[in-house]
Amino acid sequence: MELDINALLHFSPLIKTFTFNAWVVAGFTPITRGSKLDYYINRPQGMKGYIINLTLRGQARAKAGEGSLLFGENELLLFPPGVPHHYGRDEHSEHWDHLWIYFIPRPYWVDWLKWDHTTHSIGKTTVNDPQQQQALRDLFYEVIHHHNDTAPLAEALAMNALERLILSCFQLQPISNRHAHDPRINAICDYLNENIAQEMKIETLAAMVFLSPSRLAHLFKNELGQTIYAWREMQRVNRAKWLLQTTTLPLNKVALSIGYSDPVYFTKVFRKHNGIPPGEYRKRYAAMKG
Ligand code: FCB
Repeated sequence: MELDINALLHFSPLIKTFTFNAWVVAGFTPITRGSKLDYYINRPQGMKGYIINLTLRGQARAKAGEGSLLFGENELLLFPPGVPHHYGRDEHSEHWDHLWIYFIPRPYWVDWLKWDHTTHSIGKTTVNDPQQQQALRDLFYEVIHHHNDTAPLAEALAMNALERLILSCFQLQPISNRHAHDPRINAICDYLNENIAQEMKIETLAAMVFLSPSRLAHLFKNELGQTIYAWREMQRVNRAKWLLQTTTLPLNKVALSIGYSDPVYFTKVFRKHNGIPPGEYRKRYAAMKG
């Protein structure tokens, strides 16, 4: 299903007033600098249900405690009930177009709504795979479509699509999903995280869990959907982000503490994951906090 922006616009809050006493309410909010919708959402008490949003274009920021979160294209944010909403277009960006769904979860969904990366209870997930990006957009679209339909079962169908969306998001959470995985892979993940700065040889890791290197590589990919190297790189970048947010460590020290002795290489890897170099990330993060 292709995303039809004109059809989505029909559901814009500009045109429609939403009430939130339902299981599911969904829409598309296109924001351009200076446009009518270009204001900061401010809900100090949060909402009664969850909100999940997916950014299609541009960049936004959400206050999270004393700090704030930057998020952009193909990033998902999840606000649990009661968590304050303070978010809007980031001043460095011309746009913030996003899809959003407000919902009261089915009780058994709650375990699937625990995401790996949270800041002051706000969950964040970056979707890197283009196929997954499209699949998620389609699921949002399905929810929005059913939610606006008056046909019988429309709400049940919206909830059904939403359940699939929530499951897909949960599948993108490598750590939360881990208990379901092979204990040998869990052991490898723990080891890698505890020794994040160390050089590793797949032969050494394989010997630790009594597998052949090729069997380990295969099993790891099967369980976590990416190679050991890609997974560790993601963990390293996450650690670096955290260090950039919470410390004043110079960039070369940040690089070193996650195992990169070459700061130029670190910058390249960081940029690949976040779109901006680490220094810029730290600056923007600090500016937002201020
Ligand atoms: C819209 C916002 C969207 C979401 C819903 C509930 O106005 O654009 O992000 O918060 O309200």
